[in-house]
Amino acid sequence: MISLSNFDSADGSFATDNDFLAEVILGLSGAVKSLPCKYFYDEVGSKLFDSICESPEYYPTRTELKLMKDVAPEIANAIGSNVDLIEYGSGASKKIRYVLDALEMPASYVAVDISRNFLMKASRSVAQDYPGIAVHAVCADFTKPFDLPKGLGIRSRRSVGYFPGSTIGNFTRPEAKEFLKACVETLGPGGGMLVGVDLKKDPMTLEAAYNDAAGVTKAFNLNILSHINRELSGNFDLQSFGHVAFYNKELGRIEMHLESFKKQSVTVSGIEFCFGPGERIHTESSYKYDIDEFQTLALSAGFVPSKVWTDSNKLFSVHFLQI
Ligand code: AVI
Repeated sequence: MISLSNFDSADGSFATDNDFLAEVILGLSGAVKSLPCKYFYDEVGSKLFDSICESPEYYPTRTELKLMKDVAPEIANAIGSNVDLIEYGSGASKKIRYVLDALEMPASYVAVDISRNFLMKASRSVAQDYPGIAVHAVCADFTKPFDLPKGLGIRSRRSVGYFPGSTIGNFTRPEAKEFLKACVETLGPGGGMLVGVDLKKDPMTLEAAYNDAAGVTKAFNLNILSHINRELSGNFDLQSFGHVAFYNKELGRIEMHLESFKKQSVTVSGIEFCFGPGERIHTESSYKYDIDEFQTLALSAGFVPSKVWTDSNKLFSVHFLQI
């Protein structure tokens, strides 16, 4: 193992097996069945998500990456020098590198993610490539309160959050507002936040992105059932469920569901759940925002929208918000 003097790690709050079971039971017991989308991301699911990002139909990742690359100097200018950068849901810590490369002397980088193996590997690699920056890895569910590493703010002028990938779209609007309010609280006065947000667009482009021809999104969706089978002694038959993804224009969101092909019963940790033919489990919502709509949401959470960048095709937006 490499020992890096500019790297440390800590445990915050993260989902335990008990939380997982309780949330699955709750979700499958409702009149409309649902599962929390955070449970897509076990080791298999995280790899499948990486493959989705490479698929020709899934435009958000490559569009955001290119946009970040193109406007990195402007972003650096908006953020300023000598800051603590806190990335919510850091994953492979890929996009942050554009920001780190462009920033003038960032003091530290704090990677926060629920997937421990991914987090450790990615943040060690950032620490190795940026020896002048203090790198902290916090294993936590960032949707719940967590502690920032001690000593943050000693070397820096202010804290800036980074929430890329339009992950904010996987929250309902009230949840997104609560999350942004918590960020205002964590980042403190004078802080800022950089957020990647997928834009509303024609339904065909949106629906293609969640129904790729190679079937990776289908495998990603079904993997939530494998995750339950593996970790909660479930007996879902994956052949008996189909992938459904469509744009709900009224609610401004892509919805993903798993549809039961037949009448069947499934047990999870000894508890039985019955499915009728055509009955669905709602597994994910991915909200899309117009620029004004997102700025209004940010304002209501206590941020002042400061800058916004979009690609030339108006597919994706990156917002800089100030406190
Ligand atoms: C992580 N999140 C922003 C993705 C999205 O587009 O909502 C997850 C995803 N689901 C299916 N494809 C990608």
